Amino acid sequence: MSKDNSKRDILVTNALPYANGPLHLGHLLEHIQSDIWVRYQRFQGNNCTYICGEDAHGTSIMLKAEEEGVSPEKLIEEVRISHEEDFKAFNISHDNYHTTHSDENQFYSETIFSRLKDKGLIEEKEIEQLYDTEKELFLSDRYVQGTCPHCEADKQYGDNCEVCSSTYSAIDLINPISVLTNTKPELKKSLHLFFKLSSLKKEIKEWLNTSQVPSQALNKLSEWTDGEIKDWDISRDAPYFGFKIPGHNNKYFYVWLDAPIGYLASHKNYLDKLKRSEEFDDYWKPGSKAELYHFIGKDIMYFHALFFPAMLLKSEFRQPDGVFIHGFLTVNGEKMSKSRGTFILAKTYHQVLDPEYIRYYFAAKLGTGVGDIDLNLDDFLQRVNSDVVGKFINIGSRTANFINEGFSNKLSSNLHEEALIQDFLDHASVISEAYEKREFSKAIREIMVLADKANQYIDRMEPWVLSKEEKNKELVQSVCTTALNLFRLLTIMLNPVVPNLCSRVYSFLNIEEPKWNQMSELLLNHEILTYKPLLIRIEKEQIEQIKQKSKEL
Ligand code: MSP
Ligand code: ZN
Repeated sequence: MSKDNSKRDILVTNALPYANGPLHLGHLLEHIQSDIWVRYQRFQGNNCTYICGEDAHGTSIMLKAEEEGVSPEKLIEEVRISHEEDFKAFNISHDNYHTTHSDENQFYSETIFSRLKDKGLIEEKEIEQLYDTEKELFLSDRYVQGTCPHCEADKQYGDNCEVCSSTYSAIDLINPISVLTNTKPELKKSLHLFFKLSSLKKEIKEWLNTSQVPSQALNKLSEWTDGEIKDWDISRDAPYFGFKIPGHNNKYFYVWLDAPIGYLASHKNYLDKLKRSEEFDDYWKPGSKAELYHFIGKDIMYFHALFFPAMLLKSEFRQPDGVFIHGFLTVNGEKMSKSRGTFILAKTYHQVLDPEYIRYYFAAKLGTGVGDIDLNLDDFLQRVNSDVVGKFINIGSRTANFINEGFSNKLSSNLHEEALIQDFLDHASVISEAYEKREFSKAIREIMVLADKANQYIDRMEPWVLSKEEKNKELVQSVCTTALNLFRLLTIMLNPVVPNLCSRVYSFLNIEEPKWNQMSELLLNHEILTYKPLLIRIEKEQIEQIKQKSKEL
């Protein structure tokens, strides 16, 4: 925790990716979004901890391991390594990356469960489910298909119909078939444990009314809270990969029970490693002054905005202050598709292109809405080349040479147009507010207006013309010094979005990374380094290469 009262203590999480396959650009959209916000907070001097980890349990991971002929432990370890490599390549600055298959997570899952049980919030009920007799496995909704009981569409999964959008229970499907073995499942009874959410309607609504949740999502969630809230089945029968439920034979916690508890586990693991374990309660006890936010996609909002806050409330932990929900990534206006070469893995992308490009592009498109975000590949190339290379980097590349060659790298001791610098400084608060509110597209728009102004200034002053006459020598130096100071200001403003590119700019300017509040400390009488290209344009062939590689996967 920060000792300084003016600094905020903020804990940020990303949804924990399933440990059963590689990351794609859709996952990265989420991590880039939260990384920008986290970097902005740290840049402001706040104490922002950023954690994540693998979601390692559940049937699909168990089956995937079986398919690959390895133990689930081995599978999740291999996947963890590959996920961490991708996050590193994209500059995602998680402070800790843990896993739900951990001692910490078992401890908190059991703790939370037993507290809920002590409060009478766990109920045992016998239920009937579809059972695959060949595989000897109860089938979760995704593993059964059949005819929709409402519209009679074929091949619908066990939870809802993609044709008529109705939701139902898997046992209501007409002619169900196990997706795993293609056999007809039987109905079989089993004892299940339920978290009595139906008795917590008031508390759930209260959390929704007092927390930061996007309004579009609230509408969706309140459809649910206004209706009948069903109790939540938190147990699964063996065989399952997960934690056994204490006091029950062969019953496991449903993966979605222990997954969000993984946030507590990852944070605890982080604090333990830092030997600051005692801070855990400062963050997680009810009434904590620290802020807690989860960044997630719209497909998992029920778990984060309904179930998890209710679980925390009734197990003596604090609740989140906000759940920031984003939409899905589409590529060229459609769902990512292998055959079109638009199902782009994180790795495929970073093998070909600098992650800074897509960080910029996502930032330019992200706001607080839950609508889908489109990565149009032509627009991506055009926009990044024109904004980042053509506008931002260009300010440095058009003016550095004059200072390097004409003045032995030395900036002048005075500015040529102070008003312009002041104009940039005056805009900093609007940009900072946009970052704070996660309106990144707005921040980028404002920054690019400033970049245009800087370029117009250089166009107007024409240092390349001025430098032809010896009498203009000082003027050229102060004009280019002014331009490079504008370049520095834009770099600070873009720092949360493209941190690697910005650190290359700082090296060229021969300065340490400044904090946001150091903007007004100008660079005068200062020696810079020789300018070398900081970022090159994206080539059309590189986009083609990414598409080709994606098709081959
Ligand atoms: N394991 C769960 C989360 C548990 S959190 C306690 C899960 N994993 S996931 O790998 O399927 O998704 C991880 C995150 O990525 C989710 O927030 C999900 O919404 C997001 N996305 C997955 N595909 C996506 C897109 N195509 N576009 C944007 N986000 C996407 O859900
Ligand atoms: Zn239907």
